[in-house]
Amino acid sequence: MTYDSAFGYVSAHGAPLVDLLDPQPGERIIDLGCGTGAFSAEIAARGAEVLGIDGNPDMVAQASALNPGISFMLGDAHTFTISETCDAVASNAALHWMTRDPDAVIAQVHAALRPGGRFVGELGGEGNCAELVAAMQTAWRVFGLGEPELPWYFPSPAEYATKLEEAGFTLRLLEHAERPSQMTEGPNGAADWVRAYAARALADVPPELVEPLLARVNDLAAPALRRESGWVADYVRLRFAAVRKPDAPPMPEAPPAASDVPPHGASAGAPMPDPAAPAAPGAPAAPAGTAMPGGTVPGGV
Ligand code: BEZ
Repeated sequence: MTYDSAFGYVSAHGAPLVDLLDPQPGERIIDLGCGTGAFSAEIAARGAEVLGIDGNPDMVAQASALNPGISFMLGDAHTFTISETCDAVASNAALHWMTRDPDAVIAQVHAALRPGGRFVGELGGEGNCAELVAAMQTAWRVFGLGEPELPWYFPSPAEYATKLEEAGFTLRLLEHAERPSQMTEGPNGAADWVRAYAARALADVPPELVEPLLARVNDLAAPALRRESGWVADYVRLRFAAVRKPDAPPMPEAPPAASDVPPHGASAGAPMPDPAAPAAPGAPAAPAGTAMPGGTVPGGV
């Protein structure tokens, strides 16, 4: 799938995410799930004003220390609000950690954007880490443990597209592609990867079983993921660019209820109010489009 000139590129495949975002000088852009701020810094380098948001106070502290010129705040992606709408929300390798309610995250992004604002992101897609997950599940079973608790959300393209469209976005690009990536978590391949990213699954494992369990994960994953050059994670990326739709025009004002219409001559045969006629002065205004969020209120972690 290609995307239109609103994003500046004809094909995004393999291009850095910041190029898909195409930040412009002076734009206000949120980096959602900013971690230590590396992606925020890439965006800021294009001249945009960046606010990095992360749910982990350690990440916010590190990001602030590493990037003194950029603003960071603690906030839960499911509940964050900002005082003024922004031009774009971007997210790199973070949305798959936001498992509680992906629709709530998308709704908060929508509320944070001005109409026409961009939502650009990359997350693990359906099939992400399939070999790693299969090795974990088999090893857990071999050791008589229950299913490992996997803390990720890897949606299919169809599922995520539907969520975006239903939340009020027009989808401009959606790619679902394999991206095998060198593991850098440590010398012990899949075992170190599991330690780094699936700590929650290991938390339930009796301490004396952890090492043999991880050794089994390595044995099971090696045929698919171990190369001459080292271990490779079987990442599958879902990359998207979407635009917040314009607000719907205000609803026509409701005609007064029949019981509110004052008597008009003889009651029999009195005309019904014309639904197309302008409402009486002082009638309550129809609800406007999406309200601007008020106040910078970081949500819980
Ligand atoms: C990733 O797709 O980037 C990823 C997924 C799970 C754990 C760590 C990284």
